[in-house]
Amino acid sequence: MQERLQKIIAKAGIASRRSAEELITNHKVTVNGKVITELGVKVDPTQQRIEVNGKLVNKQEPKVYIILNKPRGYISTLKDPQKRPIVIDLIKDIKQRVFPVGRLDYHTEGLLLLTNDGDLTQKLLHPRNRVVKTYLVGINGTLTRSDVTKLESGIKLDDGLTAPAKVKFVRGKRDKSWWEITIHEGRKRQVRRMFQNLDRSIHELKRIRFGPLELGKLVPGEYRLLTEREIRGLKRWPGHQR
Ligand code: URA
Repeated sequence: MQERLQKIIAKAGIASRRSAEELITNHKVTVNGKVITELGVKVDPTQQRIEVNGKLVNKQEPKVYIILNKPRGYISTLKDPQKRPIVIDLIKDIKQRVFPVGRLDYHTEGLLLLTNDGDLTQKLLHPRNRVVKTYLVGINGTLTRSDVTKLESGIKLDDGLTAPAKVKFVRGKRDKSWWEITIHEGRKRQVRRMFQNLDRSIHELKRIRFGPLELGKLVPGEYRLLTEREIRGLKRWPGHQR
């Protein structure tokens, strides 16, 4: 939430409101490294770094939200005993230590959210909040009507029946086809196991949506910061679903 800079400084116990104003007009206050001299500037202390006389006021690290198009051949954990490439290696110019929200398999590509916002991560991963994920699935062959019905009604896996998925034909013919599958569960290798159960082999698996976020035009390996609007949408998302 945005607040007036002098109020944030006063709330941090550094100065009275009046002295905080003087600190600002005397060029002693920076926001994200930029000196602010105007009074009344509004700032979000959870997102921006505020310093008075070079000292950090908001001890909390600014929150950062990144959308990455994870390439195939990367691991989405923070370490890999097999020393395979990890997604964090792709994030070059971000000071904060960020973590992936959930996982994508080594061979899966697509939308991966990374953040240092632990509260939001927990919310988004909690099964109760049913955050939907859509995958573009490329298969050898095609799905029959009966396959689609099975996916839509639930598939029996080793760890139980899957919740009904939404299935949409995208393109293709009898030898190769692409489908959009939307699920809200997050079991290990879930989509691959669902298709395995139908005896369909996957040649491409890409996550294209995560809650309200869309992968858009990011190419594999590319990332960007979320917009304010996207962050708001994400924070509201679980609320909408209940
Ligand atoms: N389902 C899978 O099988 N793999 C993923 O990476 C994501 C969902």
